[in-house]
Parts: sequence; structure tokens; C-alpha cells
Amino acid sequence: MRRNRRDGFSRRLVRETHLGVDDLIYPVFVLPGEGQTEPVPSMPGVERHSIDRLLVHLEEVVELGIPAVALFPVTPPERKSEDAAEAWNPDGLAQQAVRAIKQRFPELGVMTDVALDPFTSHGQDGIIDDSGYVLNDETLVALVRQAVSHARAGADVVAPSDMMDGRIGVIREALEDEGCVNTRIMAYSAKYASSYYGPFRDAVGSAANLGGGDKRTYQMDPGNLGEALEEVALDLGEGADMVMVKPGMPYLDVINQVRNEFRVPVFAYQVSGEYAMHMAAGEKGWLDADAVMMESLTALRRAGADAILTYFAVRAARLLRGTNA
Ligand code: PBG
Repeated sequence: MRRNRRDGFSRRLVRETHLGVDDLIYPVFVLPGEGQTEPVPSMPGVERHSIDRLLVHLEEVVELGIPAVALFPVTPPERKSEDAAEAWNPDGLAQQAVRAIKQRFPELGVMTDVALDPFTSHGQDGIIDDSGYVLNDETLVALVRQAVSHARAGADVVAPSDMMDGRIGVIREALEDEGCVNTRIMAYSAKYASSYYGPFRDAVGSAANLGGGDKRTYQMDPGNLGEALEEVALDLGEGADMVMVKPGMPYLDVINQVRNEFRVPVFAYQVSGEYAMHMAAGEKGWLDADAVMMESLTALRRAGADAILTYFAVRAARLLRGTNA
């Protein structure tokens, strides 16, 4: 076995999995206002930008050839409510950002998050009853409004991350009715009730709203694998174009099973907590951050992910392009 491992040329020739810039999707946080840039303390190296600053930041993203970005708006507290009405405001932050990015960079794929958590005063992804339980069908009505408003603004891909039952079907139907026949749906199909989302909730400012609450009545139990396959089958049946497993690295087996069971595009989300762990250990000098970044992304690809949503997208693309030397 070691003959092929002896030299770089033969290691390259026998390598089974390749990571490329085409495999990266870059999640970005959008701030209201103008001229705003803020760091996210629990995600070293990640910044939140107002739309004008974001457009400048995206110049490098486009230059590097990263195919797509995923938008996450930061909603000011006064715009949050019980019914999350800001989610489908045609002039909301996500909708404005989509329009601005598509106008400036028509070739860059723009994906939006469909879920109510940035907009609810309680931080849950859906509409709640008096006991705090997230109501499925009432939430679907809101999600459809939100998804349609994103599509009207020009989003190329809408990505429901809410984990309500039946959402892909009703969103697909509404998009058809609106004439948005080319809007793709990336379903967060196997989204686990994970503790790795903490830094993200800091970044979009939903952590405080959620308080001690959790999302275990709709996101999946980390112990389940068969259920992930059932979720994927349902979402595909309802009209999803691509499916996602989230988080990434602790769920490589799930990615792999979905890849082997279904011949459809499978994506993985290397979430905020995974990013934070790598960066924190790198800052302490305990790990080589660039090396573990590339290894973790390659491992996600090896497990079967076609592409990866990762906060490392720009850092990894620079290394892959050799513009970081
Ligand atoms: C919203 C949403 C979350 C993430 C993506 N979309 C948070 C959550 O479900 O609480 C997490 C992404 C990350 O941690 O990087 N529903």
C-alpha cells in the first residue's frame, strides 16, 4: 500500500475524493442600515455586514468562483413579533439583500433561509400556541408567504430549515402558482436538534429570544438515522430539488446513507459550532486551523456531500486557488 503513498504524484493520482471551489456555498449574515460591519465573537473571522458592505465583501467571493451564497438576516428586536410578519415583508432585509446581490452579481447563486426564527419574539422557527408548542399547519401558511416573497425578490434557491411537516409540498405548490417555476428548493431534510448551532443563534440574535428553549419538538433527535431517510424521501416526494444534512461532521454516516439511498444532490452544512471549534483550537495553537479545515471539508465530500455550506468557504477557496500563499 505504501508504494502509492510514497510520492506526491502518485498520491494525487490515486486520490478518490477531490475538494474544489465548486463544492462550496458561503453563508453570510446581513445587518440592517449602511456602513455596518460587526464581528461575531463566537465565530472568529466571521463578520456581519450591511448590504452595501456585503456587496464589497462579495466581490472576492465572486472572483474566487464560489458558486453561491446563503443569506441570513439579522432582525432588529423591534421588528420581531409573535407572528413573524417581518419574514414576508417585501422590503425586509433578506428580500432587499437578494435584490441587491442579484442586480450586482447576476451569476452568483443566491439562497435564502425559510424559517421564522430570526423574526419571532420567542426565537422559535414557527408560530406557537399558549403553551409554547410550535404549531405545524399555522406555521406552513407563514413559511409559504416567506418563501414566495424570497422568490419574488429573485432568490435562486429557497431553503426551508424549519422542519415543519409538509412544508416542501405547500411551498412548491405556491411557487408554481406564482409562476416561479425555476426557483429551486433545497430542503433541510435531516436537520438535527443540535447544540452545534449556538454561535449562529448569537450571530442572528435569536439566542436571547429563545432563552432556555429548544427545538426538539420539530428538529430531529441526534440518535436517529432511519428517520433521516424517511424525511429525505418525504421532501423529495413533495418536490425538493436538493436535500441537506445538518450539522455536518458529527453526521457523516447520515450523509453517506442519504447519498447511497437516493441519487439526488445531497448537501451538508458545516454549522457554526463546527466552525467555532476548529477556529478556537487553531487560535490556541492546539490544531492547525487550515489543515483541519481542508481535512473536514474533504471528509464531508468523501461521505457523499455534493457541496458544503461552510463559513470556511472563502478561506478554503483562497487555499484552493493558491491566492493565500
Ligand atoms: C434557522 C437556522 C439555524 C441554522 C440555519 N438556519 C439555526 C437553528 O435551527 O436554530 C444554523 C446554522 C449554523 O449553526 O451555522 N432555522
